[in-house]
Amino acid sequence: MTDQQHPDESAENSGASRRDFLKQSSIMAAFAMTPPAAVTAVEKGLHERVATRFEQMPLRVTINGTAQQLNIEPRVTLLDLLREQLNLTGTKKGCDHGQCGACTVHVDGTRVNSCLTLAMTTEGCKVTTIEGLADGDQLHPMQEAFIKHDGFQCGYCTPGQIMSAVACIREGHADGPDEIREYMSGNICRCGAYSNIVDAIMDVKQGGQKV
Ligand code: FES
Ligand code: FES
Repeated sequence: MTDQQHPDESAENSGASRRDFLKQSSIMAAFAMTPPAAVTAVEKGLHERVATRFEQMPLRVTINGTAQQLNIEPRVTLLDLLREQLNLTGTKKGCDHGQCGACTVHVDGTRVNSCLTLAMTTEGCKVTTIEGLADGDQLHPMQEAFIKHDGFQCGYCTPGQIMSAVACIREGHADGPDEIREYMSGNICRCGAYSNIVDAIMDVKQGGQKV
């Protein structure tokens, strides 16, 4: 065996290295001709930050009774706005794909998966999260019922369960255990707490309290 290259092969390789050289030198030339400030800006990711700044849009929304005037990126979901910009971390991120219900909040009284809702679509709306359900120190009847019936397990998905439970009654879908299970089925709970949760919802519904 010999390491010698076929003449055609070496010509091809020298062509490739010539191309590489030309490519590299033109990149170097481009950098040399770019103003230093622009190079520094690229290095520090300023172009992205500037783009982000221009991409921000105003949003007026009332969250848990407080009118907010915000500037947000149009692509931000309601879930990320609540958790990351407003520090309302009671709303949980489970699947982030609309499949678990952990992120359920109310928009104008209707339950939505906040991970599937663009924050911009809530312009002028009233958003209620688990933090806004209680009336000061007075827990919401559904929160009381969850405590009474031990509807908590790991607790991570509980805020979403409670928000859906309230909506379930408001929507008129709490007339019996089967109906409750059907209309709570978007809230996936892996710890087998369903019977206690159903009991809590039945209790509130039968108690006739305003939810
Ligand atoms: S986090 Fe929104 S449905 Fe799972
Ligand atoms: S309460 Fe967390 S999985 Fe059910």
